[in-house]
Amino acid sequence: MQIYMVGGAVRDRLMGNAVHDRDWVVVGTTPEAMTRLGYVAVGRDFPVFLHPETHEEYALARTERKSGRGYRGFVVLTSPDVTLEEDLSRRDLTVNAMAAPVDWDGSPHAVVDPYYGLRDLHDKVLRHVTEAFREDPVRILRIARFAARFADFTVAPETIGLMSEMVSDGEVDHLVPERVWQEIARGLMEHRPSRMFDVLRACGALRVLLPELDRLWGVPQRAEYHPEVDTGVHAMMVLDMAAQLDAPLNVRFACLCHDFGKGTTRADVLPRHHDHESRSVDLLEQVCERWRVPNDARDLAVVVAREHGNIHRSGDLNASAMLRLFERCDAIRKPERFEHALLACECDARGRLGFANRPYPQRARLRSALQSVLDVATAPIAAAAARRGLKGEAIGLAIADARRDALHEWLCHETDNAPRDGGEAGHASA
Ligand code: CTP
Repeated sequence: MQIYMVGGAVRDRLMGNAVHDRDWVVVGTTPEAMTRLGYVAVGRDFPVFLHPETHEEYALARTERKSGRGYRGFVVLTSPDVTLEEDLSRRDLTVNAMAAPVDWDGSPHAVVDPYYGLRDLHDKVLRHVTEAFREDPVRILRIARFAARFADFTVAPETIGLMSEMVSDGEVDHLVPERVWQEIARGLMEHRPSRMFDVLRACGALRVLLPELDRLWGVPQRAEYHPEVDTGVHAMMVLDMAAQLDAPLNVRFACLCHDFGKGTTRADVLPRHHDHESRSVDLLEQVCERWRVPNDARDLAVVVAREHGNIHRSGDLNASAMLRLFERCDAIRKPERFEHALLACECDARGRLGFANRPYPQRARLRSALQSVLDVATAPIAAAAARRGLKGEAIGLAIADARRDALHEWLCHETDNAPRDGGEAGHASA
């Protein structure tokens, strides 16, 4: 029996990147022999074992044959006769189809590389290994995600061609929603998330998976607010700004969805997008339902889609209007989420052609204004109101009055040199 390190661990080490998970493939043995050696069987769909001490995954060399549609439609063949080359041939990308011996010193010379992964690593190309790529539609999402991670790699034209055929054959229609979200979420967290959507768009998968985003390309916006004009281009710039600002997943998802409504604006009112915010909310809620997006990601995305224009223009708000904004965002109960909404709005404002380095003072300003509201001690107000015989809703109104007063004070004492409307950025349109 021979053991080799395979997949992402080999790729990452050759690239000089940190290796997180090491995967191993075992050739020339049987499940029974593995169990006798103390490995623990864990595979549900194919024979995978955990090492008794390191708990790393050891898979028996296998071949796979398609038996149905989608993610689970496989028959797995494993036997001691399956060779390393056969196992590597069913893998997705040449750069993921290299193997290295157990005592590997990291040198490329020792790598088993029947599908020219070293060449493609050098040329920075993501290329499918064989036609077996077709057998797993999740790979379309994986390739898109790798393009977002390895931003200087291109996807080979023949791989885009193969992915396009898979889309035409309806393979993408059968992906399990949780798996789609899982891959999209991982891709959103990469360096250049826009590239994931560029690749999905190039092969036609975006039209099937996320038409709400796909239809934004070709939709114009007003050039004075959006010099990049195209709404799809803007969405991608916002997303890459979110990555540049190291935003967490929920913020990146909110950025992705914030302008969905612009894709359904009537042609005769373009390039204006009156009321796109409420249409964005409806559309993103459908996406969240479809992909079973976690509630916290959905809730932030709804707040950002609905309020981003109001947050951009918050320099114009008086105390009452600002309190209403905080209430609509549930900012007083959930200040952390509001902080995330502000970050998403900054990404929206700076994710425009030529705007990347503009300040977005609305964020610090609203954060400070919210703090003045949070500092209002509500218990004594409620107690005093109760002593005056007020109840329920009336007590709530007394608290709201105190908060409004605090905001009014805050607005009056805002330092003269802190820009009130944020200069040009303060006039950013939705
Ligand atoms: N693999 C594949 N097709 C898939 C999933 C995995 O061919 N749909 C193969 C690839 O050889 C991959 C290896 O299994 O390198 C390990 O899979 P996984 O750990 O999911 O991916 P990594 O390549 O390690 O990627 P990441 O760095 O994102 O974990």
